[in-house]
Amino acid sequence: MPLDARQQRKIMGHFATGVTVVGTALDDGTTWGMTANAVTSLSLDPPLVLVAVDKGSQTAKNLQASGRFAISILSAAQEAISRRFAGDGPRDFSGLATKTSVTGSPILSDAIAWIDCEVSEILPGGDHDIYLGRVVAGDMKGGDPLLFFCGKYARLAP
Ligand SMILES: Cc1cc2nc3c(=O)[nH]c(=O)nc-3n(C[C@H](O)[C@H](O)[C@H](O)COP(=O)(O)O)c2cc1C
Repeated sequence: MPLDARQQRKIMGHFATGVTVVGTALDDGTTWGMTANAVTSLSLDPPLVLVAVDKGSQTAKNLQASGRFAISILSAAQEAISRRFAGDGPRDFSGLATKTSVTGSPILSDAIAWIDCEVSEILPGGDHDIYLGRVVAGDMKGGDPLLFFCGKYARLAP
């Protein structure tokens, strides 16, 4: 007997993850970000990462329009940024220190690492779609990560 959705979410919540902001820039210059932890490094040759995005989200519309995104991996000090991009916003990058790389997608300057991608494929995954990103740039500066575990933010033990 299959699990109900709440139970699946609760069980898989035990899989501790980092927290990222997936940012994109539209052709009119507006930016948009979404907090995401369904993010994985998929392939090294070719270099691919993936992010699973709710099909009904504004983020899905914006990624389809822009064809590009950058993933900023959040530091332990960036919980408020995670909450901002998971909720009511503002969902653009106004007021935040940002930079861009090859694709022009917004990258959070204070992230512990980032990767810049062009959307290479969009694969079906139930109520989400899987966005494959061909990696075109990235860098890291290190630091303590923000974690997400059992529906709560967490940090590495000192
Ligand atoms: C820690 C955390 C991780 C999340 N990961 C994802 C994710 O991987 N994919 C996704 O579609 N939404 C994820 N969300 C939810 C989105 O951030 C949120 O629903 C957002 O508002 C997206 O919808 P919108 O683009 O329509 O605003 C996550 C939320 C939190 C707090």
